Amino acid sequence: MITTPFGLTAAQTNQVLEAAGRAPSLHNSQPWAFRLSPERIELYVDPMRMLPVSDPDGRETRLACGAALFNLRLALARHGVSTIATVSSESATGQVAVLEAGAGFGMTPDRANLERAIAHRRTNRQPFFDAEVPSGHRLTLSRAAEAEQTSLRMVTDPASLADLARWSHEAHRAQQLDPAWAAEWTSWTGRDHTFDGVPVSAAGPAPAPQDVWTLRDFGRPGRDERPAGRDFEERPLVAVLCTYSDSWRAQIQAGQAMERVLLQATSLGLAASFLSQLIEVEPVRNRVRDLLGGQVHPQAVLRIGFGGPVPNTPRRSVQDCVLQDLALLDPVPLA
Ligand SMILES: Cc1cc2nc3c(=O)[nH]c(=O)nc-3n(C[C@H](O)[C@H](O)[C@H](O)COP(=O)(O)O)c2cc1C
Repeated sequence: MITTPFGLTAAQTNQVLEAAGRAPSLHNSQPWAFRLSPERIELYVDPMRMLPVSDPDGRETRLACGAALFNLRLALARHGVSTIATVSSESATGQVAVLEAGAGFGMTPDRANLERAIAHRRTNRQPFFDAEVPSGHRLTLSRAAEAEQTSLRMVTDPASLADLARWSHEAHRAQQLDPAWAAEWTSWTGRDHTFDGVPVSAAGPAPAPQDVWTLRDFGRPGRDERPAGRDFEERPLVAVLCTYSDSWRAQIQAGQAMERVLLQATSLGLAASFLSQLIEVEPVRNRVRDLLGGQVHPQAVLRIGFGGPVPNTPRRSVQDCVLQDLALLDPVPLA
């Protein structure tokens, strides 16, 4: 039996935490944990689910937890619980945020739309159709980022796009050549029948020499080459989600904004995937920052377009994400 917060039933509590857990996370690591009491929900980072090589300072863990926080608030609003979130600044316990009931984040028609999109959002690594994202949709996505105090920079000029495409390849190569990165990658991907990690079913087509952008390949090594005609779209919309500071709190905010943008995209019928190597490799992140004028902090690079359906990825059970005891979050020292 789990404690039920805010007067919710057990079924509603389960539904709300399930919605939070549908958030995206690096390698589907799902690095979140929830502590429930009748009057609040606390959200923590689960240190055992961090990725020390790909994400040494925990920035992407905080993005994922911010995304889970955003889903959680939407799902609570759907059940009539309006919440105030207190987001932590750097915290020794790994606490990300505390949610309490109060006149804050309640249900609106916009939020109802976003909440409905939670179950349909996916990372789509397949080629998109060659159809441009209309300017009205771009504006709606920018507004979604702004509503969460961040900015979504669309990179449209051909020279900057060519730079980003080249750097995506360079950064990808640098990661692949790092044995520690490759070992971490192998341990989280290509899994089947587990509740976390990225399954082979979520992979895009095998990379091919004509590809302009370098996406992570989650397919089985040595699989058949790409069938003829399965080429990627000519001109994806490439958008960089940026914050105005790079603090712990700003990164959690970036996660909320990222999820808002992704849900907004889903509700517009758009698909999205990530090009995170452009941010994870520090010197490349600095170049991206300079490309955008040097005043903002790039947090996530998204490829956006119109795509076909792709399968769902697995998630841990709600029970597995609920904490009874904070001591459970202490990292276990490696032997
Ligand atoms: C911060 C962050 C970075 C990510 N980076 C990448 C990436 O570079 N390439 C990629 O294919 N997917 C990336 N993902 C997507 C995750 O692999 C995906 O969210 C996870 O496998 C769960 O699948 P879903 O998004 O379809 O629910 C990233 C997700 C997050 C939150």
